[in-house]
Amino acid sequence: MSTMNYSEKIPNNVNLSEDRTLQRALEQWQPNFLDWWGDMGPEGSTDSEVYLRTAVSVDPQGWAQFGHVKMRDYRWGIFLNPGDAERKIHFGDHKGEKAWQDVPGEYRANLRRIIVTQGDTEPASVEQQRHLGLTAPSMYDLRNLYQINVEEGRHLWAMVYLLHKHFGRDGREEGEALLERRSGQEDNPRILQAFNEQTPDWLSFFMFTYFTDRDGKFQLCALAESSFDPLARTTKFMLTEEAHHMFVGESGVSRVISRTCAAMNELKTDDPAKLRAAGVIDLPTIQRYLNFHFSVTIDLFGADESSNAATFYSTGLKGRYEEGKRMDDHQLRGQTYRVLNAVNGQLVEKEVPMLNALNEVLRDDYIKDSVAGVERWNKVIEKAGIPFKLKAPHKAFHRNIGALSNVKVSPEGQVVSEVEWAQRQDEWLPSATDRAYVQGLMGRVVEPGKFANWIAPPVMGINRQPVDFEYVRFS
Ligand SMILES: [Fe+2]
Ligand SMILES: [Fe+2]
Repeated sequence: MSTMNYSEKIPNNVNLSEDRTLQRALEQWQPNFLDWWGDMGPEGSTDSEVYLRTAVSVDPQGWAQFGHVKMRDYRWGIFLNPGDAERKIHFGDHKGEKAWQDVPGEYRANLRRIIVTQGDTEPASVEQQRHLGLTAPSMYDLRNLYQINVEEGRHLWAMVYLLHKHFGRDGREEGEALLERRSGQEDNPRILQAFNEQTPDWLSFFMFTYFTDRDGKFQLCALAESSFDPLARTTKFMLTEEAHHMFVGESGVSRVISRTCAAMNELKTDDPAKLRAAGVIDLPTIQRYLNFHFSVTIDLFGADESSNAATFYSTGLKGRYEEGKRMDDHQLRGQTYRVLNAVNGQLVEKEVPMLNALNEVLRDDYIKDSVAGVERWNKVIEKAGIPFKLKAPHKAFHRNIGALSNVKVSPEGQVVSEVEWAQRQDEWLPSATDRAYVQGLMGRVVEPGKFANWIAPPVMGINRQPVDFEYVRFS
C-alpha cells in the first residue's frame, strides 16, 4: 500500500490485479467513463498539455507530482489511505466494535445511497464547468480549472471503486447510472439541486469552488468517520485534493475583489454603473453572487430535522464533522439541539432531539467555516480603504429545503411577504442584468502572465512556478 503503479491500465494502490473479477468490472467501466469525459469533460482541452498535479502515493509528504500532461493521456487512479487493522468504531450504537471491512447486510441500502449521492456530485461539477475553459481569464486560471476537473473525475473513480468492490451487481448498475445522469438535464438530472445549477461564468465558478466544494469538504469529513472502513479511507484521501479546490475559489473571489477595489480607488467612485463602464465587477454584484451560492449550498445539507440523519449516525455510517475531537458520548441519545423554524411567518428556535438535527449540526459547522473566508475577503476591501463589507446571508434566506423553505426571508433575516420578495429579489440575488453583465466580461485570455481586466493576478504561481509560467501548452 504505497506508491501508485502507473504502468497498470487502472493505476491503483489497492492491489487491483489480485482481484480479477473486480479488475474486469472496472476495466469495463473505464471506456464508458472515458466516453463520458469526452462528451462532458472540459471543452476543447483534449490536445492541451497542462501542468497538473497527479496523485502518486498516499504519503502525506509526497503524495503528488507536478508536470505537463496531455489531457488526452490523463490517468485516473484509485487510492485508499492506509488502513489500521485495529480501527474501532467511535460513534453510534456500534461504538467500540471493530470497524467494518465489508458492508453489513442490514446497512447495505443506506450505505449505497450515501456513496451514490456523494459520487454523483463529482461528475456533476465537471459537467457544470464544461464550457468555462473557453472564457478563462488567464492561463493560470485555466490550469486550475483543469486541475479541479481531473480531480473530480478521480473522485468519481473513488466512489465507483467502492460500488464495484462492495455492492456487486447493484454497485455496477449504480456505476453506469453515475455516467448517465446529466447536470441540469430535465429527464435525468443529477441528484442534488446545487449540482443542477449552471456555472456560466468565472465569478460563479469561484463562488462554487469556495462554497460548494466546501460542502464537499464537510460531507467528506463526515464520511471519513464512517464505520465502513473503505469509505473512511477513500474519503480521507479525497480531502487532500479538495483543499486546492477551495483555495481556487477563495483566492479567485479575492482577486476579483482586489481588482474592483483598485478600480474604485483609481476612479474615486463606488457607482456600479461607472465601475461597470470600467469593466470590473462592482461589490454589490459580488455580494449577490455570494448570496446565491451560499444559500443554494447550505440546502445541500438536507432537511433541518431528519430521521435519516439520525439513522445514518446511530448505525455508524456517517459521523459528525471532526467526530473524533468532540468531547461527548458520541451517541447523543437524549440530547437536544436548537434549530430554526418558521411558525406563522416568524422565525423561531425550536429544541429537537440532537440525533434528528445532525444535518443542521453539520450545516452550522459549515457556516462557521465559510464565514471565516468572507472575513478574509473583507480584509482585502478594508486594506484598500473602502467602507464596504461582504456578508454571508442569514441562514433562512432563499432556502429550498426544510422548514425554512416555507418563508421568504431577507439576507438580514427579516421575514418578508411574497410581494416584497418579488420586488426586492434583484437586490438580493443576481438579476438577469447582473448575469448578462458578468457574462459579457468573459473572454479568453491565455497568453502566459496576462490577465483579464476584471481580475487581479495571483500573488504566487502554482507549485512555486512564476505567475507567467506556461501552465498550459496548446497545440
Ligand atoms: Fe470532489
Ligand atoms: Fe472538489
